[in-house]
Amino acid sequence: MVRWDVKDKSLLITGGASGLGAAYVQSFLKAGLKQVAILDIAEDVGKAFTADLNKTYPGKVIFVKCDVGNEECITAAFNEVVAKFKTVDIVFNNAGIMNDAPHIWRKMCDVNVQGLISFTYKAIKHMRTDEGGAGGTIINIASTAAITKHDLLPAYYATKSAVLQFSQCIAGNLFEQAGIRILTLCPGATDTPLLHNLKEKGSDEKAGEKLDNYLANPLVITQSVDSAVNAMLKMYEEGENGSIWLTTDNKPVKNITPVVDAAFNSYMNAIMS
Ligand SMILES: NC(=O)c1ccc[n+]([C@@H]2O[C@H](COP(=O)([O-])OP(=O)(O)OC[C@H]3O[C@@H](n4cnc5c(N)ncnc54)[C@H](O)[C@@H]3O)[C@@H](O)[C@H]2O)c1
Repeated sequence: MVRWDVKDKSLLITGGASGLGAAYVQSFLKAGLKQVAILDIAEDVGKAFTADLNKTYPGKVIFVKCDVGNEECITAAFNEVVAKFKTVDIVFNNAGIMNDAPHIWRKMCDVNVQGLISFTYKAIKHMRTDEGGAGGTIINIASTAAITKHDLLPAYYATKSAVLQFSQCIAGNLFEQAGIRILTLCPGATDTPLLHNLKEKGSDEKAGEKLDNYLANPLVITQSVDSAVNAMLKMYEEGENGSIWLTTDNKPVKNITPVVDAAFNSYMNAIMS
């Protein structure tokens, strides 16, 4: 099996200022990353985190303010990072919002879906070996929301299904053609601020209450950030182009590509029959 190494690689990560993104950045730096550009809308938090990391990893970390829901910001930030790093080896689409409230769901779709698609296209253009690029890895963060049905957060679930479907469709033969891997991670509930203030995140007050009660149920396990980080590292080391990985309930990460393939094959059988 080929094992991918992060040593001497340059990383661009969205939503890397806090939560899981910040933990992914720390784990990659510990593993020998050459440099990282942290893109986030939270400027103060991002700058403080960057300054802190540069104490341990001098000169390796830059912060670029970017609203992943805004195309102009995406283009400017991506170009800034390429101008600085010359080659970006890993583009990590981590930024995400979980909020079905009436004044937020459209923004959520822009960030979770359009932003991720835009960065993926830009990364492919930059990395493709058949057009002079150096190849690389694109990591897209979906969720167990992409592979389960629930009436709690239908719009959020839809965004994560879109991430999964976009990622598996675009992966195609990208590695053979252009030296690029697309990897998709589906985390279950994980202990970050994403799961705070749940009452405000439903499509209305009732949905917010239901969501809050659901996650307060002791049978619902919220896994540790470390568990998701270890899963991501193993996926990065071993994942083939188009593979889909599940990390939930603090259990070891699973490569669920065959399970997702089987589900899609059963849809195909229904179409053909
Ligand atoms: N925590 C979970 O339970 C869980 C489960 C499954 C999937 N995920 C996914 O993992 C990813 C990270 O989630 P998290 O738990 O760390 O969330 P979080 O809310 O703790 O952190 C999200 C980060 O994204 C940044 N961000 C938000 N909007 C942005 C925007 N418009 N532009 C740029 N950056 C923006 C925030 O400032 C923050 O730094 C998300 O895609 C989320 O959907 C999380």
